[in-house]
Amino acid sequence: MDSNRRDFLKGAAWMGAVAMASGCMSDALKLNGAVGAPMQGFALKPMKKVRVAVIGLGVRGATAVHRLVMIPGTEIVCVCDLFEDRVNTELNWLKRNGKPPAKGFVGPDSYKRACELDNVDVIYSVTPWHVHCDIACCAMEHGKVALTEVPGCLTIEEAWKMVETSERTRMPCMMLENCCYGEEEMLCLNLVKQGILGDIVHGEAGYIHDQRALKFGTRCHSLSGHKNSWEHGEPGWSMDYYSKHHGNYYPTHGLGPVAKYMDINRGDNFDFLVSMDSKQANMHHYAREMFTDCRRDFKVKKGDMNISLIRTKLGRTILLEHDVFSPRPYSRLNLVSGTKGVFQSYPDLYLTFETKCGDKSTHKYFDKEKAALVREQYKHPIWKVAGEVAKKAGGHGGMDFIMDLRWSYCLQNGLPLDTDVYDMAAWSAMVELTERSVESNSRPVDCPDFTRGAWKTTPGFTVDSIDVAKLGWKFNIKEDENIKKAAEQEGLL
Ligand SMILES: NC(=O)c1ccc[n+]([C@@H]2O[C@H](COP(=O)([O-])OP(=O)(O)OC[C@H]3O[C@@H](n4cnc5c(N)ncnc54)[C@H](O)[C@@H]3O)[C@@H](O)[C@H]2O)c1
Repeated sequence: MDSNRRDFLKGAAWMGAVAMASGCMSDALKLNGAVGAPMQGFALKPMKKVRVAVIGLGVRGATAVHRLVMIPGTEIVCVCDLFEDRVNTELNWLKRNGKPPAKGFVGPDSYKRACELDNVDVIYSVTPWHVHCDIACCAMEHGKVALTEVPGCLTIEEAWKMVETSERTRMPCMMLENCCYGEEEMLCLNLVKQGILGDIVHGEAGYIHDQRALKFGTRCHSLSGHKNSWEHGEPGWSMDYYSKHHGNYYPTHGLGPVAKYMDINRGDNFDFLVSMDSKQANMHHYAREMFTDCRRDFKVKKGDMNISLIRTKLGRTILLEHDVFSPRPYSRLNLVSGTKGVFQSYPDLYLTFETKCGDKSTHKYFDKEKAALVREQYKHPIWKVAGEVAKKAGGHGGMDFIMDLRWSYCLQNGLPLDTDVYDMAAWSAMVELTERSVESNSRPVDCPDFTRGAWKTTPGFTVDSIDVAKLGWKFNIKEDENIKKAAEQEGLL
């Protein structure tokens, strides 16, 4: 950490201490933002090199390590995991690929040791949901940028804790919502921002992904810490949640992009929602068909489909779906419609818009040729400059690479990160809010305003780019078989 940041933190620490001592930190903040300062538009001083500690080296974390080494100006200086073999595998991988030596720590508190390292700028957490909040807060308390996998937290209390910690420590916290960086999602953002779809009225967002085999697979550890959970008669950590909870535990892949189209927290805000779970049938059916061991009678509480309807302060509506148990094709829905047209990217790209009000061009979707022309004309500037290399680098069609490239670019150039702690909080809060509504017979539940009113004056999302020429960055993916192989591995989205 450079001395300015450290001095600033020392200066800010007393404010948190006073609030803690008076026992009123949350209330004071929720009423008037009295502790710390708002983080909208906040940027750190430019970093020459971005030094990253990756916490959690499971399926997604290992691919993150292999991807981050391809991001210019970014270095992995530390890796942590519960299991020693995973730490050693990644340390060896870095060594084999000629990367500078990194530190490795093992165990549930390993992230704390990473946060204590002076040469770490960013804590990149790719861990199970229940530790996201603790790891991100620990990072910010130690003056590190907190980047956290999805969802950023599980409860409203955790969301406020992360907001307050970010404001008090003046450290950014961004959720690694890679779907905001998908080619279609960024194309849609560009169309919306250029006014092509008019005033946005309605959006549809979802996470539909047949994960029956994955959830009954043995690769995840259990909450009690057993590797290969089911071999010990226990569910993996995410399946454990589904056995105890209703609602939408994975809301942000679909919701993040739609929240950006609608400028949630930046001109509009979530107001209230209603949510409903279907019955549970698929997991029980699958288990009885497939297994003779403890999985056969395992009880899942969550219904197969969770459907929520969110209304925004400006009267927009969002349909939010979550189904990881049904035998059906993958979809994030990703639909948005406005006063001039509609965009949808699942199961394929469908769009149409009027050029003159009432010209009837919206009675049908554009044909494939016209859609391809629009796609080219309105391609997001970041995909224009980095799309080709992103696709080679891999990671869900390149969006993981674009996301990592962008936050690292922002840190290297002293720019605010694309999304902030308020976005993380508002999108992740859906976990608890949907469950509360389901459990009260789908009664409406109010969405907290984590911005404390600042959404009314915060400028909307913008269509930003990356100035490759200015930085002299060379997008060279080393023609190394290991790196290429690693880049081809897809984290399970
Ligand atoms: N954005 C995406 O596309 C995407 C895709 C897959 C997973 N994810 C998210 O990534 C995260 C990890 O998912 P996964 O599928 O890789 O899970 P995983 O179980 O394969 O990996 C999690 C890893 O975290 C480690 N871990 C657990 N507690 C830890 C602690 N206290 N300190 C250090 N390490 C710890 C575990 O040992 C494990 O290796 C989840 O939050 C998940 O939602 C995101």
